[in-house]
Amino acid sequence: MKVLVTGGAGFIGTNFVYHLLRMHPQDEVIVLDKLTYAGNLENLKSLSAEPRFLFVKGDICNRDLVQSIVQKVDAVVHFAAESHVDRSIVDAQTFLMTNIIGTQTLLDACRTAKSVRFHHVSTDEVFGSLGIRGSFRESTAYDPRSPYSASKAASDHLVRAAFHTHNLPITISNCSNNYGPYCFPEKFIPLAITNCLEGKKVPLYGDGMNVRDWIFVEDHCAGIDAILRRGKIGETYCLGGRSERTNREVLQQILFELGKSEDTIECVTDRLGHDRRYAIDFSKAEQELNWSPETPFLHGLRRTIEWYRTHEDWWKRIKNGDNQNVLKK
Ligand code: NAD
Ligand code: DAU
Repeated sequence: MKVLVTGGAGFIGTNFVYHLLRMHPQDEVIVLDKLTYAGNLENLKSLSAEPRFLFVKGDICNRDLVQSIVQKVDAVVHFAAESHVDRSIVDAQTFLMTNIIGTQTLLDACRTAKSVRFHHVSTDEVFGSLGIRGSFRESTAYDPRSPYSASKAASDHLVRAAFHTHNLPITISNCSNNYGPYCFPEKFIPLAITNCLEGKKVPLYGDGMNVRDWIFVEDHCAGIDAILRRGKIGETYCLGGRSERTNREVLQQILFELGKSEDTIECVTDRLGHDRRYAIDFSKAEQELNWSPETPFLHGLRRTIEWYRTHEDWWKRIKNGDNQNVLKK
């Protein structure tokens, strides 16, 4: 199968490219990535001599470019997005452009190409915020509450509309919080690890009791791959990590692993509209695809810490380089 991976120079996209090339020796991969602040070609440098891999720098909103690439592939796995909630609160415009218009541009191109399979990578944040009990599942009503999640919700609707209106062979996944190698250090876990390694404090929003369900990125990639190959056309699958933790618990574990004291925690003003809790019921993916997350949280967290320990050059270049104007922490 020849697969177009949009956003393949970002966190999950990078992990997915390596997953595909490792697990499917017949597959070929084209990455289309604009290389925004979050995209990093260095992530893919070990593939420069790989004959099954091609990188194209470009914007998913560029109709001509997208059309010319989509015609060459059997499937599109669509990761490209503006992905950070805090940024969407400060300025939502690029989120609307990439996440909504960019997704529609890809769908339009798939429609004019011959039978291209389209998998849309989305988020559990489209479902809103949970109380103490309950979990999101495929039938949960949409209730996005940040500009980021609203833009992702819009993109999900457009993908479903392409299925119902044009019979496009699509699937959608809504996944919980990922962690692991190559995650840009503005997200909570890599920010906490790298700040600790630099001897800095770690900002904890509000009372630190917001809950996320953490999934190791390789488990997410395996889930997407399972949907791409075995998922039912037109269907949505929720993917989760079976690892609900408060932010305070996650941070305390990181501090423990790195031998830091609780003084490292800096309680700061809460995020505007901060969703309280996410949790995922992934039984549909378990039953239909025989997929479930395999990495226990502590194991995945230790692998992640080790990766950041051994890849100081990678994150220090980001933290000290051109991106420092947008990284306030
Ligand atoms: P990321 O921010 O690390 O990477 C996004 C990538 O998309 C970057 O390489 C960037 O350069 C590229 N990109 C952005 N705008 C583009 C454009 N207009 N054209 C082409 N490329 C563009 O994001 P991530 O954390 O890897 O998330 C990937 C996808 O998974 C997103 O769609 C996100 O909504 C979804 N998701 C993320 C998580 C998570 O915890 N990170 C969880 C569930 C779903
Ligand atoms: O649930 C899936 C989503 O997970 C994805 O769709 C998003 O792309 C991804 O960024 C992530 O969104 P969150 O907002 O949950 O992730 P973030 O890492 O920004 O924050 C995780 C939690 O930690 C959240 O409750 C806010 C809190 N936090 C975050 C930062 C950056 C802090 O307490 N301090 C911080 O400095």
